[in-house]
Amino acid sequence: MTTNPYQAYANSRALWERASRVMPGGVNASARYNAALGHALYFERGEGAYLYDRDGRRYIDLLTSHGASLLGHGHPAVVKAAEAALTRGILAAYETELQVRTAEKTLALFPGAEMMRYTCSGTETTWHALRIARAFTGKIGVVKFEGHYHGVNDTVGFSHWPKVAEAGAAESPVPVADSAGIPPYAADYLTVLPFNDAAALERTLREKADTLAALIMEPVNYDSCGICAQPEFLRLVRELTRELGIVLIFDEILSGFRVGPGGAMASTGIYPDMTCLGKAYGGGLPLSAILGTREIMMMCTPVGPALQSGTYNAPPLLVAGAEAFLDTIAAPDFYPHLNELAERLYGGMREVFARRGIRAWVQGVGARFGLLFGLEREPLNYRDIAAQDWEMARRFHLACLKRGVYIMFKSPHHGFSSAHTLADIDLTLDVMDDAAAEIAQKR
Ligand SMILES: Cc1ncc(COP(=O)(O)O)c(C=O)c1O
Repeated sequence: MTTNPYQAYANSRALWERASRVMPGGVNASARYNAALGHALYFERGEGAYLYDRDGRRYIDLLTSHGASLLGHGHPAVVKAAEAALTRGILAAYETELQVRTAEKTLALFPGAEMMRYTCSGTETTWHALRIARAFTGKIGVVKFEGHYHGVNDTVGFSHWPKVAEAGAAESPVPVADSAGIPPYAADYLTVLPFNDAAALERTLREKADTLAALIMEPVNYDSCGICAQPEFLRLVRELTRELGIVLIFDEILSGFRVGPGGAMASTGIYPDMTCLGKAYGGGLPLSAILGTREIMMMCTPVGPALQSGTYNAPPLLVAGAEAFLDTIAAPDFYPHLNELAERLYGGMREVFARRGIRAWVQGVGARFGLLFGLEREPLNYRDIAAQDWEMARRFHLACLKRGVYIMFKSPHHGFSSAHTLADIDLTLDVMDDAAAEIAQKR
């Protein structure tokens, strides 16, 4: 085991320097830059629960493609379905029976949804969903919660993880753009609220109801380390939006399929008007979807006035991944296996941190979790998680990486796949124990 990361990652580092000449930062998504290492890692392949990098190292993968690889890398059912789709001519922009059959299977899992459309990325999906909601209500305003993430589109590209000093009072945050280049006027149409704050919610929705088209939210806010909507808060969100004619959109791009076969709709019985799916849904292939009630989805062209189209909407190759994914998670032992892994991992992590005297909160929800250093109680909103100890987090993540567990510093969430075994979890816990001992020593 080397303690010099640059030496250990020599091939990755060389490739990163080469990549940086042709791709900004040497990456195609800023989240792939490894802030703990100071460069990106480059991989040869993935297999099940494992990643293999350019320096010949094997990792247990706890990033799982930011949640897209819930079945692990290269699940045989997904590979087989994709291969079959390839032999039919890589149809890019055509309808086949596959899209219909997979839509039927998808809608069967989301009881409040009646119709759907496929897109590729989550960013497109939330953007389309908001346009459809605006067309349906004839209003433009959107409400989102501080700490929630809905992709990089300008409509909701605000206040994911703002600097607290710039974000206003906790009970009435101001929108802070996540990026340069977002037109300032976009903020005029957006209201940002604190999560799980019933008083702020009711006051604002009643005050602005005439201008609000939609409220979009992550029912499990994995993008702030797995904060859960409190049941009474979620009920209030549903009651108020219904009463005030505001379309309720559950962004389940990350939370869908994570704790059970449906989304929050299936697990809480609270039905939104629209749902966005993505990530795990394509079995690792880039497929997303917008689901909604018939009345709302019929706003889409060609039957309604909201233009909804795209050359790469629903290529059979990607939809085949989703069908294989849905068939795989329908196996009776799929979720019991995930639950067993979750229990072992989260319980084990809590023991590790207690043993090593490290103040850390493990926020495990289904197959994904947040890890918060310096916290001792369950976080309820973004301001709670913003107070975490980043330096401790950086050192822990780097110490795990060096020992062969791929866990990404600054990712709000981590997780495992169905390809992970109890033995992988035990190995992960051994690594975490060593890593925790290292960072405890250097305090
Ligand atoms: C809840 C949520 N919505 C939307 C997105 C955007 O999805 P994509 O990265 O596919 O554009 C993400 C991605 O992290 C997400 O977690």
